[in-house]
Amino acid sequence: MTSGEVVARAPAKVNVHLGVGPLRADGFHELRTVYLAVSLFDTVTVRPGDGLSLTLSGEGADGEVPVDRRNLVWRAAELLATFAGVRADAAIDIAKKIPAAAGLAGGSADAAAALVALDALWGTRADRSDLAGLAAQLGSDVPFSLHGGVALGSGRGEELSPVLARSRWDWVLGIAGEGLSTPAVYAELDRLRADGRVPDGTDLAPVEQVIAALRGTEPAAVAGALANDLQAPALVLRPGLRRALRAAKDAGAAGALVSGSGPTVAALATDESAAVRMAAALAGSGLFRTVRAVHGPVPGARVVPA
Ligand code: C5P
Repeated sequence: MTSGEVVARAPAKVNVHLGVGPLRADGFHELRTVYLAVSLFDTVTVRPGDGLSLTLSGEGADGEVPVDRRNLVWRAAELLATFAGVRADAAIDIAKKIPAAAGLAGGSADAAAALVALDALWGTRADRSDLAGLAAQLGSDVPFSLHGGVALGSGRGEELSPVLARSRWDWVLGIAGEGLSTPAVYAELDRLRADGRVPDGTDLAPVEQVIAALRGTEPAAVAGALANDLQAPALVLRPGLRRALRAAKDAGAAGALVSGSGPTVAALATDESAAVRMAAALAGSGLFRTVRAVHGPVPGARVVPA
């Protein structure tokens, strides 16, 4: 048990490849995805408290992100306390830089950061695999937010196999004004499939090409392997994304795709200075609320100096 405060941070993610299988009986879709953790972080600070309290600043603090038990962080705290047999006593603050409902796993990052911070505050002695098990109960992307780096995700996304990829990849994230609901994007994919407008998902695309590209050093090879089955439904729900993807290509992206369920556009740059130039061009396009130059892979949720 720590008497003072504990600070943890966790990264956003981009799905460099997102293959979505058919709808399962439990309401989730079977996935085959390659996650990349990128350098846009949320920070969670926890202090001793009496019961749970939650405050939030930054992205989503205008009321978009709830600060009660609907917040995944609140559920993470209750789940960890039950697991460890301790009282859920903590004052939790989230400093959000990852936009909400953007396809960047911001809520999952907060939950993962809360798990590692509260684990340290409460001295629960949960090991990394215990935390991964709790993370999987909280959401499909939470285990990856804990893990970070590059990983192949299967099941509903929560079953991870690490991928060793040491190259640095520079991206520009173009974040549109309004968020997209993840369940709505999956439901639109199901509709497109029922109408025969996109392949039905029974044959998930192989991931070997994208994994080999990420292990290499050629942006063109990664660009050629980018894929996201949620892009078509995201484009139906948000037709303006088509222009945003074109703007990324026009600004010099090696490749661009919708991140996760969107609406963030993730544009791969050929190197760091190209990313800075591309970020400036996209910021000037007027198509995005926020533009961020990031790189990955970066580590998953970690305690950091207070
Ligand atoms: O796991 P998570 O709570 O993040 O999922 C949110 C929603 O996204 C699910 O309720 C489901 O509608 C959809 N989803 C899915 N298949 C997945 C992951 C998420 O259909 N593999």
